[in-house]
Amino acid sequence: MKEVKIETTLQVYDDINELPKAIQNLMTTAIEARENAYAPYSKFNVGAAILLDNSIVVIGSNQENACFPSGLCAERTAIFYAGAKYPKAKILKMAITASSQNQITNKPIPPCGACRQSIAEYEIKQDQPIEIYFMGAEGKVVKSNSLANLLPLLFESSVL
Ligand code: THU
Repeated sequence: MKEVKIETTLQVYDDINELPKAIQNLMTTAIEARENAYAPYSKFNVGAAILLDNSIVVIGSNQENACFPSGLCAERTAIFYAGAKYPKAKILKMAITASSQNQITNKPIPPCGACRQSIAEYEIKQDQPIEIYFMGAEGKVVKSNSLANLLPLLFESSVL
């Protein structure tokens, strides 16, 4: 038996103002997208904004359903739309923000495991890393240079 250690490196910004201007703008778009969340059940609004290499920004927000599993996260709403509408474009960056309707969300909210798996698929498809930035409603913003940093041991197609 041998032990395997998996490490990851992330960057942490104090708040949105510390981000480079272009990322601030992308995060602001994600914050605006969050307003369109349909989250009557969880009361947890999430917004995502994706910058493509054709300069187009695609947004998404979580869309819930009375049949809970039929809803979808903000990140997948956005990335599936990007894939459907601009299949040839590369995804450069994704900004994510989440805000509870019940309390102040002041810690960074990372994408859920299912969203990481979905984002990873596009990162592999385009053979180019996707930068991920995530925050709560306020406070620190975490940056990952690549989705792969957030999902070690991902399931990928070579095993199929
Ligand atoms: N949610 C997202 O939109 N993205 C995530 O990465 C985590 C969770 C949504 C799904 C559901 O509508 C609500 O947040 C609570 O789980």
